[in-house]
Amino acid sequence: MGTENEYEGKVVLVTGGAGCIGTNLCKKLAELGAEKVVILDDLSSAYEWNIPRADNISFVHGSILDDEMLKRVYKEKPDYVFHLAAHFANQNSVDNPAEVKTTRFHKIDTTLFLFCKKENLC
Ligand SMILES: NC(=O)c1ccc[n+]([C@@H]2O[C@H](COP(=O)([O-])OP(=O)(O)OC[C@H]3O[C@@H](n4cnc5c(N)ncnc54)[C@H](O)[C@@H]3O)[C@@H](O)[C@H]2O)c1
Repeated sequence: MGTENEYEGKVVLVTGGAGCIGTNLCKKLAELGAEKVVILDDLSSAYEWNIPRADNISFVHGSILDDEMLKRVYKEKPDYVFHLAAHFANQNSVDNPAEVKTTRFHKIDTTLFLFCKKENLC
């Protein structure tokens, strides 16, 4: 995760932040003093009650496949983005290969593009 104080005062977007890794990551980021941890999760395989609560954590219920939702969370101007939104693989990736691939890979293009735009890199 880099140096511990790297996240202090920063805005961090965590897609899939309500999941197994995401909830623990968000808790840690909040403890490390992130100004704001923004979670974007469609709760397709997670529960709202499991999302960590803190003044500096905000939850947006939506999908990374929805461009309007992505624009909404990028308005927070994240300094860091952790892309953890994913469908549980194994049999699911055999049954729904296109959907699993879209969530994991295709939308990374959009999140990266919006991030680069925000940083004036493109
Ligand atoms: N758990 C592990 O041991 C492990 C190990 C190595 C890598 N990973 C990888 O880390 C990532 C996260 O894993 P995890 O164990 O936390 O999975 P998880 O299933 O617990 O969390 C994924 C989250 O993504 C959300 N999600 C799914 N599709 C979404 C969408 N379209 N928009 C928004 N949110 C969406 C789900 O609701 C869920 O909360 C995955 O890419 C996984 O392959 C996990």
